[in-house]
Amino acid sequence: MSSNNKKRVFSGVQPTGSLHLGNYLGAIKNFVNLQNDFDCLYCIVDLHAITVWQNPEDLRANILDVASAYLACGIDPTKSTIFVQSAVPYHAELSWIFNCISRVGWLNRMTQFKEKAGKNKEKVSSGLYTYPNLMAADILLYLADLVPVGDDQKQHLELTRDIAQKFNNDYSKFGGKDFFPIPEPLIFEESSRVMSLRDGTKKMSKSETSSMTRIELRDENDLIIKKISKAKTDPFPIPESIGELDNRPEVKNLLNIFSSLSEEPILNILNNYSGKQFSDFKNDLSDLLINRLSPIRQELIKIDNDESFLREVLNDGAIKAKKKSEKNIKEIKKIIGLG
Ligand code: TYM
Repeated sequence: MSSNNKKRVFSGVQPTGSLHLGNYLGAIKNFVNLQNDFDCLYCIVDLHAITVWQNPEDLRANILDVASAYLACGIDPTKSTIFVQSAVPYHAELSWIFNCISRVGWLNRMTQFKEKAGKNKEKVSSGLYTYPNLMAADILLYLADLVPVGDDQKQHLELTRDIAQKFNNDYSKFGGKDFFPIPEPLIFEESSRVMSLRDGTKKMSKSETSSMTRIELRDENDLIIKKISKAKTDPFPIPESIGELDNRPEVKNLLNIFSSLSEEPILNILNNYSGKQFSDFKNDLSDLLINRLSPIRQELIKIDNDESFLREVLNDGAIKAKKKSEKNIKEIKKIIGLG
């Protein structure tokens, strides 16, 4: 809870490459909708990014790119706090404390670590392994109540809740009782897992080598049309009922994208297109995407030409974020016996 009695929202995006439709529908679009009712902090999580190798010049550019995307998508810096994680040193400080609260058994269950490390488990950075503890620190440093994320972050949120609970219990006799709120994930069903355009069983991702698998926020209209027309479907027409989508992951994905962009229930969309071939549907989906994304792209281009504005937003954001967290880190350290 913030000082003005509004519930507090925290979320973050890694500056690791071009943002795509999954980041937009699964996260950033919801960030925008929340900023009128909550005290929102939106972070560019650069310390998370370096858990895998980042070329320093690319990283520097990608940090600004996420900041531009936040603004271009409609996050208003006079309403929300937009800032870079490494500009507030308490994130790293609290993550060390959480390294000592969180259990190895908990981290061993994290599916994202298993996926990212793959067969290379012995060679990946130790930061990749303790990554969820840093994520818990991001959220709990601000005593956040709500965390809007895509479905892939659900397990990390559960770990954050476990850490908050363990801290509150372990230190209950030392001033820690109910200290951390137990944060709730905010996951919006139909947009929480936007899948690859080429394989409906894999999530749309920045790290997939082919950019034909994803729509990027900076894609030109022609490229959007090309990617949608080449998006994988199947030889059957569009069905009448949602149940018939169960074994058709690519079709389900395109309908989900249509539904989250148009904010119409899937059933309405099925009513309009059932029995038809995919070409009509794909044309309309491309139009819808262009309609939503081209104003964002134009805004991105405008912001690209005004780096000093962007830096000002980030400087102000870091000052605000420090103010919102300074008292909390001091209290946490005091509870533990570190001051
Ligand atoms: P990241 O940078 O991978 O993704 C940013 C946000 O986009 C969502 N997302 C998706 N949603 C739907 N479909 C997809 N295909 C898709 N791909 C990505 C993610 O779920 C996320 O919400 N660990 C986080 C960053 C983070 C964070 C935090 C988030 C660090 N600290 C604290 C919330 C709170 C991550 O790697 O997101």
